[in-house]
Amino acid sequence: MAQSGPKLRVRLASVALRAVQSLAAKAANRSRRGARPWAEHTVSDLLVAHRLASILGDGDRVLDVGCGSGHWLARLQLFRDIDAVGVDLAPPVARPGIALEAYDGFRLPFPDHSFDVTMFCYVLHHLGREHAQALLAEARPVTRRRIVLLEDSMAEFDFWYRVRNRCHRLETEMVYATESDSYTGPDGDAMFLTHAEWRRTLEEVPGVSAVSVQTLADLHNYAHHTLLVAALT
Ligand SMILES: C[S@@+](CC[C@H](N)C(=O)[O-])C[C@H]1O[C@@H](n2cnc3c(N)ncnc32)[C@H](O)[C@@H]1O
Repeated sequence: MAQSGPKLRVRLASVALRAVQSLAAKAANRSRRGARPWAEHTVSDLLVAHRLASILGDGDRVLDVGCGSGHWLARLQLFRDIDAVGVDLAPPVARPGIALEAYDGFRLPFPDHSFDVTMFCYVLHHLGREHAQALLAEARPVTRRRIVLLEDSMAEFDFWYRVRNRCHRLETEMVYATESDSYTGPDGDAMFLTHAEWRRTLEEVPGVSAVSVQTLADLHNYAHHTLLVAALT
């Protein structure tokens, strides 16, 4: 139905005032360009980072192994004033406020007790069991308090998840092998471990005193996102 005269006038005035409002706000905030670091992350990722940040303190030194472009460290820096270091196979693109470097995929090039927390975010399931265990054992001496994993893990993987995991493995092995000469994919099964299997794997790392497993399904559209925290003695 056509709008009556007064209603239409109010509608048009409202649209015009909103347009001016928006332009004025943009003009007033033009010097803040780049001051919205939140905008580059999804809400899910920010919620996960917020949960992760709850086990960190300001001033902590945090290592992210397999950091990609360092975006988990960048997300954590939105919540905590951390000293952030990331390593990956290929030299990652520099990010302000984060020290990113390439390493050989096996030996973490840092002195003992260099970090309060070492994280592996969606990395270990791309490796074979021995390689993943060796990297966790490498992380132990360089870390003072906790080893943290974000992983694709569930209490049990059903048929569709086994299909999803197989495709994820095929795709990423192809990409990482092309991007880096140092990448060696798993010989046998990749590490798509259940919650209980990850718990056991972390408990086997010398010096781990307790392991917590937390599903992040409430923060994501997909149920496989899992946070594992290993406390060190
Ligand atoms: C799925 S991406 C995850 C990147 C980032 N951690 C994130 O959560 O967005 C897996 C990363 O693991 C890295 N990677 C593969 N093998 C590795 C190894 N042996 N040591 C460290 N990183 C490795 C890859 O280069 C890639 O950046």
